[in-house]
Amino acid sequence: MQYAIITGASSGIGLELASIMAEKGHHLILVARREDRLLALKTKLESQFNIKVMIVVMDLSIPNQAKILYQYCIDQNLTVNCLVNNAGYGDYGQFDICKLETYQNMLQLNIMALTDLTALFLDGMKKRKSGRILNVGSIAAFQPIPNFSVYAASKAYVMQFTEALNYELRGSGVTVTLLSPGVTETGFVARANMQNAANAKGKLMDAYSVALQGYQAMMQGKLNVTPGWKNQLITFGSRTMPSREMLLRISAIILKETKAK
Ligand SMILES: NC(=O)c1ccc[n+]([C@@H]2O[C@H](COP(=O)([O-])OP(=O)(O)OC[C@H]3O[C@@H](n4cnc5c(N)ncnc54)[C@H](OP(=O)(O)O)[C@@H]3O)[C@@H](O)[C@H]2O)c1
Repeated sequence: MQYAIITGASSGIGLELASIMAEKGHHLILVARREDRLLALKTKLESQFNIKVMIVVMDLSIPNQAKILYQYCIDQNLTVNCLVNNAGYGDYGQFDICKLETYQNMLQLNIMALTDLTALFLDGMKKRKSGRILNVGSIAAFQPIPNFSVYAASKAYVMQFTEALNYELRGSGVTVTLLSPGVTETGFVARANMQNAANAKGKLMDAYSVALQGYQAMMQGKLNVTPGWKNQLITFGSRTMPSREMLLRISAIILKETKAK
């Protein structure tokens, strides 16, 4: 049986991706730290759809967890034909006041775990000449962002890595797709402590729409997808801005701290 791995499936975009993929008939391996949420999702999806759901409780911000997940799949005889690298988080605020440990865990999760999982599962996909990978980036990747410096840089890595790998994989039967959401209504804003950031105010995109567009783009083997016209406008502006200084100033305004209501 072929399985799809989804990291960060216990909430937000990952949870919606799990529901969409279950409905489409994918067997799933769901990964996150919160076991109760994964168990509840497994029970729900297996009762609603004719699929098998495995859960793996794992903290991917600990180095080398990807190898443990890979070995688990080998031991359980699970063939992985689809990998969704979705788990990630940000931390809002000036670089020098955020904790060192927070940055280290963020980079380990957003960059290292994603890269390790891609390397480990790509091998089998290439041998079978078939596979789909979806990397969840962010529109934060398109410019440096004061008050979100490490997170934006980590997503710039995800973007450049995915684009280059997509090129390398052309003709191999395996595709890799970049999903670049803007601010979306999930647990992300609270975990990043960015409730008072200007861009987190007002109506946010819903996680289901973001997940659906990501899933469709992945299955079509597209290079990238940015859900929502406003987000597309922002990334177009970032790509075409003539001055780097102007880009920095605008992103600082978009993420500036506003007074809590
Ligand atoms: N929401 C936004 O505004 C937004 C915008 C652009 C990009 N994104 C990206 O979208 C992706 C999904 O985030 P989301 O918005 O859906 O946020 P979310 O609701 O906070 O979900 C994050 C998921 O990642 C998992 N996770 C976090 N730390 C983990 C760790 N150390 N090990 C394993 N799993 C971990 C969480 O599960 P546990 O806590 O159970 O481990 C959760 O399932 C992230 O890569 C994020 O950067 C989000």
